[in-house]
Amino acid sequence: MDKFIIEGGRPLKGTIRISGSKNAALPILMSSLLTREKCVISNVPELRDIRTTHQLLKYLGKKCDFSRNVSVILPDRKLRTDTPYDLVKQMRASVLAVGPLLARFHRVRVSLPGGCAIGVRPIDIHIEAFKKLGARIYYRQGDVIMTAARLKGARIRFKFPSVGATENLMMCAVLVPGTTVLENCAMEPEIPDLAQGLKGMGAVIKGEGTRTIKICGVRSLRGIMHNVIPDRIETGTYMIACAAAGGEILLKGTAPGRLKSLVRALRNAGARIRTGENQIFVKSAGRPSPVGVVTGPYPGFPTDLQGPWMSLMCIARGKSRICEKIFENRFIHVPELARMGAHIAVSGNTAVVEGVRQLSGAPVMASDIRAGAALVAAALAAKGRSEIRRVYHIDRGYEKIEGKLKSVGANIKRVRRDVV
Ligand code: UD1
Repeated sequence: MDKFIIEGGRPLKGTIRISGSKNAALPILMSSLLTREKCVISNVPELRDIRTTHQLLKYLGKKCDFSRNVSVILPDRKLRTDTPYDLVKQMRASVLAVGPLLARFHRVRVSLPGGCAIGVRPIDIHIEAFKKLGARIYYRQGDVIMTAARLKGARIRFKFPSVGATENLMMCAVLVPGTTVLENCAMEPEIPDLAQGLKGMGAVIKGEGTRTIKICGVRSLRGIMHNVIPDRIETGTYMIACAAAGGEILLKGTAPGRLKSLVRALRNAGARIRTGENQIFVKSAGRPSPVGVVTGPYPGFPTDLQGPWMSLMCIARGKSRICEKIFENRFIHVPELARMGAHIAVSGNTAVVEGVRQLSGAPVMASDIRAGAALVAAALAAKGRSEIRRVYHIDRGYEKIEGKLKSVGANIKRVRRDVV
């Protein structure tokens, strides 16, 4: 398995170009299952999860070509309607194939994804909503099977604004006869991006980006050309990394308006931030002031940035409180940060971080994408050498991370698994 070697304590300086959003690209790629026609999707990041999505599309019968951040999905003849456990266990977002397949073929069989490092992550909200559209649900050998003689638009209220459930139901309802009203929807920016893609295919959708989305089903959808929005989580990770390591960086090709909660928190911590139309400039002000955050659905503080934020707070001039409200087990980076000299006490969903003057490099292990990003931010700020193992988690979510960090002066090296 690859690992990163980082010599910390070097301030960052320069410009980083932000990639397309992984979390926006995944549902857009899945929505190609809704049409027989060709789909061309650009600004797609080259990441493990995106490769897994292409593998899944190919397994289902699509022909895909992915190069230079453009995914071309060719017209299909016949598709399968089952998603195998081998792919689902690599990437939970495989469950997003359910909405389009159910809508188009009235039958789908998907392996239940099971838990992962950050929590149990059930798909009950998705399943309950598909039932309301008329699907019958069966469970067989770890798979859930959904069938429907007829689907019909319905009013569905999510018990929690789940991002995945909102996307899955949108992708189903666009082909379901009648009107579907989704209430208590997620408002994450990836949702309006998906809606824009679906509208490009001929779907009729209103209210995306608010809590209530109204969809009028159409008979069929055409192909699309779609450009994926910039990755707000990648942007936020580099902003925090710069605040922690010191220095100043310019992040280009991003959308500052989607990171308001982070910009506010970073300013309170003392960092200087200037935002332009498509760019953000960050300048570290040395050791940050302690600033607590509570994660929440958008526009709240993103759970995906909670780990990196904790790394920054580890070197703050005092005590901060970080409360995780989305995933029940998202403090897996805490013991690793402790190995680097951090003082963190966890009780339930709250971590109290007592800032230390400096972290020290250490061998640590990434256990999910964002916990890995937290360790990279901490290692860049720490004195001495860190070795981050299980980099494949980080590779699921950050395109060319070591190249981008090197280009702004970080001392980071990837050691390939075949080199001892
Ligand atoms: C998406 C993002 C992920 C981000 C998360 C929250 C993608 C591919 N991933 O994940 O990066 O961290 O949103 O912003 O876009 N839940 C249930 N039942 C369900 C569905 C969800 O209990 O049927 C719970 C989850 O266990 C979790 C919470 O709801 O505790 C939020 O999950 P959800 O918003 O669905 O996240 P994902 O779509 O999986």
